Amino acid sequence: MAVGRRNFILGAGGSLALVAAAGTWRVTRMPEKAIEPWHPDRDPPADVRLDAFRHAILAPNPHNRQPWLIRLESDNSAIVSCDLDKRLPETDPFDRQIVIGFGTFLELARIAAAQRGIRMDMTPFPDGDPQPRLDTRPVARLTFVADRAVRPDPLYRSILKRRTNREIYSKTPPGISQLTALQAGDVRTTLDPVLLGKLRAITVAAISKEMTTHRTMMESVRLLRIGRDEIDAAGDGLALSGPMIEATRLLGLTTREKLADPASTAFKIGLDGQREIYDSVPAALWISTQDNSRNQQLDAGRQYVRATLRAAALGLAIHPMSQSLQEYPEMAEYLAAVHALLGVPDGHRIQMLARIGHAPPVSPAPRLPLQSHLVA
Ligand SMILES: Cc1cc2nc3c(=O)[nH]c(=O)nc-3n(C[C@H](O)[C@H](O)[C@H](O)COP(=O)(O)O)c2cc1C
Repeated sequence: MAVGRRNFILGAGGSLALVAAAGTWRVTRMPEKAIEPWHPDRDPPADVRLDAFRHAILAPNPHNRQPWLIRLESDNSAIVSCDLDKRLPETDPFDRQIVIGFGTFLELARIAAAQRGIRMDMTPFPDGDPQPRLDTRPVARLTFVADRAVRPDPLYRSILKRRTNREIYSKTPPGISQLTALQAGDVRTTLDPVLLGKLRAITVAAISKEMTTHRTMMESVRLLRIGRDEIDAAGDGLALSGPMIEATRLLGLTTREKLADPASTAFKIGLDGQREIYDSVPAALWISTQDNSRNQQLDAGRQYVRATLRAAALGLAIHPMSQSLQEYPEMAEYLAAVHALLGVPDGHRIQMLARIGHAPPVSPAPRLPLQSHLVA
């Protein structure tokens, strides 16, 4: 779950005077350090692995925890594993979404390496499949090999443009040809109003369930970074930025405590705002895999990030709505409902569900520097 800026602007603010006062801070109070990785040096590092990974850390990933640990080996290999403290045990009890976030990371690394004529060979889970949760064993072993047959991937150009967009989307849906362009492999999309109506009922109920279940809500609240200083200091998590956030934070209206308290106005307005967002689904995309193995989860992540890069190239906004796909007991009825609604065969698993549409652009999300992911 992520908390939309807009809700807090509407919720915690409201007064015109506050808006006016806050407006003057726009230039100076946006995060700077935390978005530096989105402005990489024009001169790539000599080591192609570092070039690949400086792009990979821009991958979409659950709650923006960036759990990637990278060990460089010999002169052309790397081992990628998970920082186990960065998992999300309440909303992602089997680390399924975290593995998807490794898939997004690895695909961006592959695309960036290809840009330099390098093939990235990958062995997923080389020391075996960690079940039911991830452990210290590697997620992937990578080898980077010069190969004349490797061609640049046109999606490379969208890596720096891609965002998760949590705004309310225009009611005008994307064109059918745009949606079709997102479909590849296991990626499916729909514009069917009847199906979307039923899907919205599930996504709104699921976000409401997550936010009113204390322990799952708290997993998000703890990862909120409120205002520029917190965002720049943390470099990860769910960023709330902008002039209204700065103003309401200073006034004590936007605090983690208030946002966590179901009796508070901030919480109620936040919940209503999230319902509005998860009801704003002009088109939907989902990725369903044949089974729920670790390899398929990784593959779903690779397919998802490619769909987001295509969306960025087409000027479309995209936003995952993962709540109904999560495995904790309170969510079980929605997990079953979404699989039934989308006609997924028995044993297959929906790994990603997202809304697609037109929306105002959003700022890049914070990132930790590449160095912080490199381990000796
Ligand atoms: C497996 C997965 C599940 C996600 N689920 C959600 C979600 O339910 N709601 C949401 O707002 N963002 C979701 N996201 C998006 C992440 O929060 C987002 O990628 C992260 O905050 C970094 O932001 P960026 O994508 O703009 O770089 C998900 C991402 C992944 C990879």
